[in-house]
Parts: sequence; structure tokens; C-alpha cells
Amino acid sequence: EELTIIRKFEHIEHCLKRQVEAHVTNQFENIHFVHTSLPEIDKDEIDLSVEFLGRKFDYPIMIAGMTGGTKGSQLAGRINKTLAKAAQELNIPMGVGSQRAMIRNPETWESYYVRDVAPDIFLIGNLGAPQFAETMPDRYGIEEALKAVETIQADALAIHMNPLQESVQPEGDTQYRGILKALAELKSEFPYPIIAKETGAGVSMEVAIKLESIGIDAVDVGGLGGTSWSGVEYYRAKDERSRNLALKFWDWGIPTAISVVEVKYATDLPIIATGGIRDGIMIAKALALGANLAGVALPLLKPAVKGDVEGVIRVLQRYIDELRNAMFLVGARDVEELRKVPLVITGFAKEWLEQRIDLAEFLRVRRRK
Ligand code: FNR
Repeated sequence: EELTIIRKFEHIEHCLKRQVEAHVTNQFENIHFVHTSLPEIDKDEIDLSVEFLGRKFDYPIMIAGMTGGTKGSQLAGRINKTLAKAAQELNIPMGVGSQRAMIRNPETWESYYVRDVAPDIFLIGNLGAPQFAETMPDRYGIEEALKAVETIQADALAIHMNPLQESVQPEGDTQYRGILKALAELKSEFPYPIIAKETGAGVSMEVAIKLESIGIDAVDVGGLGGTSWSGVEYYRAKDERSRNLALKFWDWGIPTAISVVEVKYATDLPIIATGGIRDGIMIAKALALGANLAGVALPLLKPAVKGDVEGVIRVLQRYIDELRNAMFLVGARDVEELRKVPLVITGFAKEWLEQRIDLAEFLRVRRRK
């Protein structure tokens, strides 16, 4: 148990102090809006609210899960409570980090608990997919999933899929057999929505179709182009061999923008676009491609560690200003209208998508016919 807790602490340290982002982009630079000289709306009338899993939020942005359960100076508790206060203020959803530490050490529950400062937010618990694998000793089932959600009074559970990170760390959980079946069983009896989330390598349309077929409620594409978990593991590596493996796979995965298109094209799943979202124009593009929300993690970590609620809000407010401005310049009064504005896809994103989907059809109707 100690190991899990220390590992989470090291992750935060490296994310704060080192360059942990991918060296390649999330491909939003290859998604283009077509500027509108006559928007025919007033900028002030733009409505940024969205519905997601039966709840209404003021902005189409979520705070992606980062932490909980770390030891020392109540660091994780401070991070989560700071993020939660910002989420409460803005009426946006928020996730906590992996609750594995809490399942093992129930006394760490308070570091995930934010209801005292954020009574109304849509809160998402978090467990790892490998914990549900057929070959995992003491594998998780409905009992652990219920504990994760109910201990912190969450509204939904995220199951993170992170085979990349697990595969490049010496102590990684590389058991992934039977997870789809386990999630199907869990879904059939679990009373809360389940979000399947990647953590930086993106979700392909093949995986999205499988997740939809077992009734998963939403997908967070967690694409390539933001925080790289192989990058984080590179800094944690203790020897040359592990360092090499992590370095080789630093930029592995499906870029966020491309992953959103794949999932949108092939399924009807609600989509969260996370992975290198660093301004409001990217958020606007993600929504235009069909995402329901955009998720942000790393840029919020620094102010959150300091307990700086205003700092977290300042970052998000900048994104909101930029999003609203982009919507004005394409004449979109709300997110529904943003989903219908023309887009142009160039370069690497175009080359990739032309080999994977009927891109012309997607650009017309933003899904498969
Ligand atoms: C994460 N992320 C993450 N995801 C998850 O499902 N469980 C977890 O415990 C964590 N822990 C975590 C810690 C820290 C410090 C960071 C920065 C991130 C992944 C996160 O939710 C998100 O998918 C990625 O970080 C990509 O978004 P950004 O960081 O590029 O905006």
C-alpha cells in the first residue's frame, strides 16, 4: 500500500517540476474554423452551458482527475479541495485521481472527499481498469466500485485505461485480460454512470465501439499531446533499461483531436476531450468535432498545489474567454450551433483520418451515416 501512495506523490512531484508533456501535438492545429465576417449574433448572447449525463453545467469544461491518497502534508487533500472549490464556483464537473490507495487504505478517504467545499458539483470517482482484470489477484468488482463512489458521494465512476503507463514501469499492472467482460458485468449491476477514460494515449474507434456495446455511459479520450505518462515514468525510472523503454514510448498514442473524431464517427457515446487542452480555441474545436466537454489536468496542478482557488479559476476563465470569442467569430450562439459550423482538416490529421473514416462524410454530418 505504501508503494501506491509514494508512487502517486512522485507523479505529482515530476508533473510540477519537469517537462512531462508530449513532444508531439494533440493535432488541434490541423483543425481549422472558417472565419465569419458576419456572425449575425451578439457576443453577449452566447450561451456556453451544456448537458452531460443528465446534468447541466455552466461551461463545457471539466477538471480531469489527478490525485488522492498521497502521503505527507495532506498534499492530495489540498489539491482536490482547491480544484473542487473552483469547480463549485464555475459549476463544472470534476474528477478525483485513482482511488486505489483508498481501497487499500480506507483512512486516506478524506484526501478525496470534497463535498464539504463543493456540495453541488458533478463529482467523478476513479479506479484503474487493470484492477478489474481476470488475472489480477484480489481483482475489483462491484463492491470496490461502490466504495469508490459512495465514500466520497460521487455522481459517477471513471475507469482509467492506462496500458501505456503500466507497460513502461517496472512495477506496472500489465494484466489487461478480461477487462471488457468485467466492465460489462459491473455496468449491468452498477447504479452510477461509468466513464471509460484514457490517460494520454487516446481511444480508437475500435475500442469505443466495444465500450459502447457493453453500455459504458461516456468516453474520455485522454489523447496524446498533453501530459505523457510514459514521460513521467521516464523520470521515475531507476535504471537504463527502464529509462530507455519509457523514453521510446513518450509520444505513443492517438492525438486528442483525432481520437475525438474516431469516437464521434463510430459511436453515439458522449465524449470528453482531454489531453493537451491548453486554450479555449482548442476547446471550441473539440466541441465542434463532437466532444461534449473538454477536460484539463496539468495546467491546474500548480495553482491547486498552492491552495490557490483564484489561480485555478483564472486559468479556466481565460479558456472560457477564448472559447466565447471563437464562438463569436464562427457565429455560434451555443454549443449545439458550434457543432454544425464548417471545419477544415489539414496535414497529419487529414492523412490519418482519410485512412480511418469517410472524412468527407464526417465533415458534412460529424458522424457515420
Ligand atoms: C493525472 N491523470 C490521472 N488520470 C486518472 O484517471 N487517474 C489518476 O490518478 C490520474 N492522475 C494524474 C495525476 C496528475 C498529476 C496529472 C497531471 C494527471 C490524467 C489526467 O486525468 C488527464 O487524462 C491527462 O493528464 C491529460 O490531460 P492534460 O494533463 O494534458 O491536461
